[in-house]
Amino acid sequence: MKTILCDSYEEMSKAGALIIADQLKAKPDSVLGFATGSTPVGMYTELAKMNKNGEMDFSKVTTFNLDEYYPIDPKNQQSYRYFMNENLFNKINIDISKTFVPEGYSSDSTAACKKYEKMIKDAGGIDLQVLGIGVNGHIGFNEPAKNLKASTHVTDLTESTIEANSRFFASREDVPRQAITMGIGTILKSKKIILLITGENKSKALNDLLGDDIITDNPATFLKVHNDVTLICDKEAYYGRDNTQER
Ligand code: F6R
Repeated sequence: MKTILCDSYEEMSKAGALIIADQLKAKPDSVLGFATGSTPVGMYTELAKMNKNGEMDFSKVTTFNLDEYYPIDPKNQQSYRYFMNENLFNKINIDISKTFVPEGYSSDSTAACKKYEKMIKDAGGIDLQVLGIGVNGHIGFNEPAKNLKASTHVTDLTESTIEANSRFFASREDVPRQAITMGIGTILKSKKIILLITGENKSKALNDLLGDDIITDNPATFLKVHNDVTLICDKEAYYGRDNTQER
């Protein structure tokens, strides 16, 4: 894994945006995988700025988001569809009909998962996947567990994720208890992956990534089997609170 260590969140956001810009220069009709959460917001702002300045063109791009709450109405302000429209898609010259988020509104979640997996395959696979990471090491909503799933599936959110994400909802009770997420295998099939990690509370999860073990209790450690992963992190995440972790 390659590591880009940044001085600040702004620097991280720019580093991520530049990798996406290079990807679109090399392949204007790229299939991009996107994540939600607070971490990529700065990078999305940067992408919108570059698009406005004419430095990037999204007109031929297709996107697939990692995950979506289940069940949720896409018009709900806490849905990941709403998040992506607000933070990125409405600000760039992308064809919105080529942006895909798992169908959190489907009455048949199993069928929605199968369909999503097939759509990614039919689009030629994901060229570049953007990831964030949970404090517990989750990627997408692949939570720590004894067994992890390879393909897109419905998952129960852990108490720690419900707690972490309750900051976006009026109350903890409003957080959906399930989500549809790409599986570890779906993510690993992406040709290239960038993982953005910010903040001291992610340092334990990042520390596991820098070691040699693959641990189902830290699903992100499966990224070690991929040959093109770039970690983009700030010093708080990399060194942790006391700056004493050996690197
Ligand atoms: C969201 C996702 C999650 C987040 C993770 C970190 O699409 O896939 O795995 O990346 O929960 O969230 P933040 O960035 O809010 O700390």
